[in-house]
Amino acid sequence: MTGGDARLRGRRVTVRVPASSANLGPGFDTLGLALAYYDELEVAVRDEPGATVEVHGVGAGEVPTDASNLIVRSIAHLFADRGIELPGLDLVARNVIPHGSGMGSSAAAIVGGLMAARGLLDGIVDIDGDELLRLATELEGHPDNVAPALFGGLTIAWTTPEGPRHKRLTVHRGVSLLVAAPDSVTVSTALARSLQPESVPHEDAIFNVSRSALLIAALIQSPELLFAATEDKLHQTYRASAMPATSALIEQLRAEGFAAVVSGAGPSVLVLCSDPAQRVEAAAVIERQSTTPWTVHMLAVDFKGATVVAHPAEVVA
Ligand code: HSE
Repeated sequence: MTGGDARLRGRRVTVRVPASSANLGPGFDTLGLALAYYDELEVAVRDEPGATVEVHGVGAGEVPTDASNLIVRSIAHLFADRGIELPGLDLVARNVIPHGSGMGSSAAAIVGGLMAARGLLDGIVDIDGDELLRLATELEGHPDNVAPALFGGLTIAWTTPEGPRHKRLTVHRGVSLLVAAPDSVTVSTALARSLQPESVPHEDAIFNVSRSALLIAALIQSPELLFAATEDKLHQTYRASAMPATSALIEQLRAEGFAAVVSGAGPSVLVLCSDPAQRVEAAAVIERQSTTPWTVHMLAVDFKGATVVAHPAEVVA
C-alpha cells in the first residue's frame, strides 16, 4: 500500500441508503421522511492512490467518475475531518433514486459516502450520529434531507451553535405515501433556493408554525389530519414558476382532497395518505392528467436509515 493508514488495507464495505422527501409541505428545511427506495454502493480500499468510480443505473455516464464525484468527496470529507490520509478507493455505485427530482439523491450520495467512510474506519475512529449529521449538513447545506437518509423514519432537524441536531420519530402505520416524479423535468435545489425571498410576512410564519406542529401529530398519531397539516406559505408558491406542472398537479390533487406537497425542492410530488385505498385513488388522479408523464412510486417509509456492512479484509501478501 503506497501511503495511507496500513490498518485500512484490504477493507471493503457495502452501504445501502434510502431516498428521502424533505419539507413535507410546512416543515421547510426541518422535516424529512426516509423512503424505502435505495441506492447501494460498495467501497474498497486499494493499494494504488486515487479513486476509480463505476456508476450503474441512474447517473451512469453523467455523474463524475473521478475525485470530484460527490460520494468520493463525502468519504474524503470525513477522512479530512479526522486528519486521516485518504487511501486509494474503488467505488461502485448502483443508483435508483432519480437525480434533480426532490427525492434526496444528493443526500443519499453524501450519507452513503460518510457511512462508507465510517465503515472503513471502524475500530480506528468513533463517529457518532451528531457528528455524521454535522458532516453531512456541511456538504448538503441544510439538514432536512440528510437526517432521514442517515436515521430513517420521520426526522425533525434543527440547528444549534454546536451544530445540527435531530429527533427521529416513528410514522403511524396508517400513513401510506406515493411520490410522483416527472419523467423529464429536473429542478436544481440551487435554483429553487434562489427563488426564496429574504424575509416572509409574520402571519405566514405563524401559519407554517401551526401547520408543521400539526403535521407531526398527523404523521405519528392522527393521519386524518394530514390534509390540513400539509398547507404551506414559506416555499412552494415562491418556487412554483420553476415547476409549473408540479404546481398544477398539486393544485388538482388538493382540490380532490389529497395531501399533496412538493417533495424536497421539487419537482416531484409527495402525496401523504391516511390509508392505502386513498393512495390508489391519488395514483389514478395522477394517471388521468395528461400534460406531463409522471412515474408513480408507491413507497413505504424506511425505518432504519443508511446501513453499512463491512466485508472481511482481502489482503494479498
Ligand atoms: N429544504 C431543502 C429545500 C430541501 O427545499 O431547499 C432540498 O434539498
